[in-house]
Amino acid sequence: MSDQPEAGERLQKVLARAGIGSRRVSEEMIAGGRVTVNGQVAVLGRRVDISVDRVEVDGVAVGVAPGLVHYLLNKPRGVLSTAADTHGRPTVVELVPDEPRVFPVGRLDADTEGLLILTNDGDLAQRLSHPSHGVEKEYLAEVEGRPSPWDVRRLREGVVLEDGITAPARVSLLGPELLRIVIHEGRNRQVRRMCEAVGHPVVRLVRSRIGPLSDRRLRPGQWRELELSEVRALEQAAAGHGESRLPAR
Ligand code: URA
Repeated sequence: MSDQPEAGERLQKVLARAGIGSRRVSEEMIAGGRVTVNGQVAVLGRRVDISVDRVEVDGVAVGVAPGLVHYLLNKPRGVLSTAADTHGRPTVVELVPDEPRVFPVGRLDADTEGLLILTNDGDLAQRLSHPSHGVEKEYLAEVEGRPSPWDVRRLREGVVLEDGITAPARVSLLGPELLRIVIHEGRNRQVRRMCEAVGHPVVRLVRSRIGPLSDRRLRPGQWRELELSEVRALEQAAAGHGESRLPAR
């Protein structure tokens, strides 16, 4: 904690740089008591050192603590979403830098492709993985046969799986054999089982969005670091503050 409040940068400047809003908007937020520094409501004129002080707006942390990394990977087919495989099969952690050690947030099946977050930010990972926070995930599913409007409706309203009925989902037909399915739940092989249950087994499955994050330029096997605004948007989504989407990449 910085014990010299006169040292560091003005709080409104730090907030503006973190993408919270203009300096004026940030000043209004401070004046409105929405900003805390190390748990205490901040007053205008406060200076902070973002590398040591914990700044929160409406209870959501600003900035990324030193040492934390957040990667977005486009997982190729055939790669496992585990940290290590006893049978020597390729894993997602081999596709990103070794240090600092990171782990995948949630899982994609070995035969599923698409976006996966890897991080050493245990706190965020836990909040994102918690079913009650329900961060949306969007999948593109190429299926066998042509789903009918009735099949789409069943997928939307919920299908009975062996572990219970699925929650309402957003489902649309993008092509004769191509579905877009948006779910909040994260049950094992859920999308595959949902499609199978309506008679259209999945041929190819790609996760195209995690909450506010999408990236169509990331090729299979490529990764990039998340920007601060993206980490913040994820935190907001995990805190249940909506699914404000970032500009699509
Ligand atoms: N649903 C699936 O069936 N598989 C995945 O990998 C993710 C969601």
